Amino acid sequence: MWQDISRLAEAYGDRAILDLFAADSARFEHFSVSADGLLFDFSKTNICAETREALLALCTAADLLAKREAMFGGAKINETEGRAVLHTALRNLSAQPVEVDGADVMPGVLATLERMQQFSDAVRAGDFEGQGGRITDVVNIGIGGSDLGPAMAEIALQPFADGPRCHFVSNVDGAHIHDALRGLDPTRTLVIVASKTFTTIETMTNARTAWDWMAEKVSDPGAQFAALSSNQEKTAEWGIDTSRVFGFEDWVGGRYSMWGPIGLAVMIAIGAEAFREFLKGGEAMDSHFRSAPLQDNLPVLLALVGIWHNQGLGYATRAVLPYEQRLARLPAYLQQMEMESNGKRVAMDGSDLQIHSGPVVWGEPGTNGQHAFYQLIHQGTRVVPCEFMVGIEGHEPELAHQHDLLIANCLAQSEALLRGRSLDEATEIMAAKGLEGAELERQARHRVFPGNRPSTTLVYPKLTPFVLGQIVALYEHRVFVEGVILGINSYDQWGVELGKELAVKLSPILSGEEGTEGKDGSTAGLVAVIRAAR
Ligand code: F6P
Repeated sequence: MWQDISRLAEAYGDRAILDLFAADSARFEHFSVSADGLLFDFSKTNICAETREALLALCTAADLLAKREAMFGGAKINETEGRAVLHTALRNLSAQPVEVDGADVMPGVLATLERMQQFSDAVRAGDFEGQGGRITDVVNIGIGGSDLGPAMAEIALQPFADGPRCHFVSNVDGAHIHDALRGLDPTRTLVIVASKTFTTIETMTNARTAWDWMAEKVSDPGAQFAALSSNQEKTAEWGIDTSRVFGFEDWVGGRYSMWGPIGLAVMIAIGAEAFREFLKGGEAMDSHFRSAPLQDNLPVLLALVGIWHNQGLGYATRAVLPYEQRLARLPAYLQQMEMESNGKRVAMDGSDLQIHSGPVVWGEPGTNGQHAFYQLIHQGTRVVPCEFMVGIEGHEPELAHQHDLLIANCLAQSEALLRGRSLDEATEIMAAKGLEGAELERQARHRVFPGNRPSTTLVYPKLTPFVLGQIVALYEHRVFVEGVILGINSYDQWGVELGKELAVKLSPILSGEEGTEGKDGSTAGLVAVIRAAR
């Protein structure tokens, strides 16, 4: 199967996408799919019917449908950790039974959701108070999957945020928590410690700092702390009352966890009803993913386009370019979701991967990026496939003209990447400005855009909790499909361990309690410089 992809990449890699449009006047209809209000257009790639067939065949070869049902059904598909992968159960509002080890997990999931709602309602209504009265600010302390999702969603859903202000602290750099707490009233602040393991050093260190900060003004800081974790033993050690401990099971991976307790700060910000809308959006994407034929299936097509560009054509990175400012943190969120999931060099069976792993994912909100890195995307020597995203309608009717400009910019960029500007066109433009001769030739060459650069566009109606839920679940399933086709385990993350272990060992070396014996020359040198400067 991979041979087919290589063969097609070899044959079609350089062909002109514009020629494909010329040959098929309905190319847009043939190479875009819709589901529940979302539209995914991949016609501005060089995928044709033949390539699509070959890519779809990868799904069959990888037994995607059976693996998809295994995931939804609670099978332990995270084989290196012996765990099921059931973040989908957290948004299974239909409460259809989902079994792990013969037991239905749904009663537990729904009971936790209900408890979250009660707590969130109490905080929002002022029934749960701090020592100084109504809670005005919530500080979520977590990192990675315990931060990126809720932090991203809290910004994305600002038009719905009518609860206390939320702040997110992740970096172990004391400056982060220092700046977040500055100006907050500890007697009216709720601290949420979000950590699946409740052992992550950054989070535990920041939580201790927050506790000490609160203890200066609050007699019982623990009473203004809540914990989100699957490690009940550790949360108990902190003395946080179990009524404010929201647990989840080991079958929820950190980077897939914002649908459950890790989403508590978002629920407090936007209210339980809106949070349920977010879950409903995820649930709608789940049912699309499970029921739509592969050729009309959004997550499947997103994954296949990614595979064509990365493993097929060798484009090592992918830019995610949401145009709405409120999706500013989506690229960072997707970066963890995709790179921690599919950045693996060993296949599920332990053998070396014979193809490249997932791509480098990066990005920024669109128009800001246009004035920063789009230069390279348009004229650099490397091809960067771009994933544009834009909403049809904004939340500020009085600024609709600005939203129109936003959409125009988004569409203009994908058009420019496709079309480019030829030397003839550039020469004509520069000649009209009065240049001639060698100078005209030289200047024109700088103004050529090669074009034929692939992009996709995801269009959604309006950034609501439901739509955000659809988008997040879309990407989760895309990562799953990609992982299945690559034959890797998308749900472990052993690659983060070595650095963590070495950091623990370096602390006493930095403080001078231990020497640098055994360290490489660079590390020993850096330690010496830092120690000498203190
Ligand atoms: O270091 C990676 C990681 O384990 C992520 O997978 C996870 O999202 C993050 O750390 C935080 O972990 P925890 O929620 O256990 O604090």
